[in-house]
Amino acid sequence: MRIDVVTIFPGVFPGPLGVGTLGRARERGLVDLAVWDLREFSSDRHRTVDDIPYGGGAGMVMAPEPLVRAVEAIRAARTAGGHSESPAVVLTTPQGERLTQARARTLAARPHLIVVCGRYEGVDERVVEVLEAEEVSIGDYVLSGGELAAMVIIEAVARLVPGVVGDAESVARDSFSEGLLDHPSYTRPAVFRGRAVPEVLLSGHHEAIRRWRAREALRRTLLRRPDLIDEAALDAEARAFLTELRNRDG
Ligand code: ADE
Repeated sequence: MRIDVVTIFPGVFPGPLGVGTLGRARERGLVDLAVWDLREFSSDRHRTVDDIPYGGGAGMVMAPEPLVRAVEAIRAARTAGGHSESPAVVLTTPQGERLTQARARTLAARPHLIVVCGRYEGVDERVVEVLEAEEVSIGDYVLSGGELAAMVIIEAVARLVPGVVGDAESVARDSFSEGLLDHPSYTRPAVFRGRAVPEVLLSGHHEAIRRWRAREALRRTLLRRPDLIDEAALDAEARAFLTELRNRDG
């Protein structure tokens, strides 16, 4: 997968995307990350990329010209490189639709992403229209800029590219992949500061362990993120657990 990032702070990349799973994926050529300095696409000698908002108000707005020029230059470079499918353009903004595992999966199926880091008070609305950009938010809070959001999106998407995470099963079992939070995990020692690991995990009884984990995942989700339960595809066993948990705890 090819990922191009457009930012006014190219120096912050790759940052955390240069280490661990994603760092290795890049070394192995599974993920090709390129970073573009938006100011290089400004047409004035001060390398300006923003302007005051029409209608007045606080803050600056990212101007359309440099952003559109940057994305068009990336597209042209990629087409010249023999890539035919048009890239998905993602614009980071708190006004966007929320990043979810499902959205990460959809983006991961695309061979080429262009991630535009929003800044200032916003981006000229026509950029979204002209580039047919998908506006994505990483959560209901405001960051000063889109660089961290871009890193979060890239990390969530790139680890779904086949081969990036060695154990495909672990990706499939991640929190949210099945629509639920993950079960609790333990490692040695068996007793830590007087707290013992749940007996069943030491039993070697695989079926009992699987059932315990399924149940604990449901318990956690019900307690912390009941909104997820309504959306999750629960099998008969999970539905039975849920009834039991609700009757007992409720
Ligand atoms: N830029 C500022 N805040 C953001 C958020 N929550 N998500 C995506 N981009 C942002």
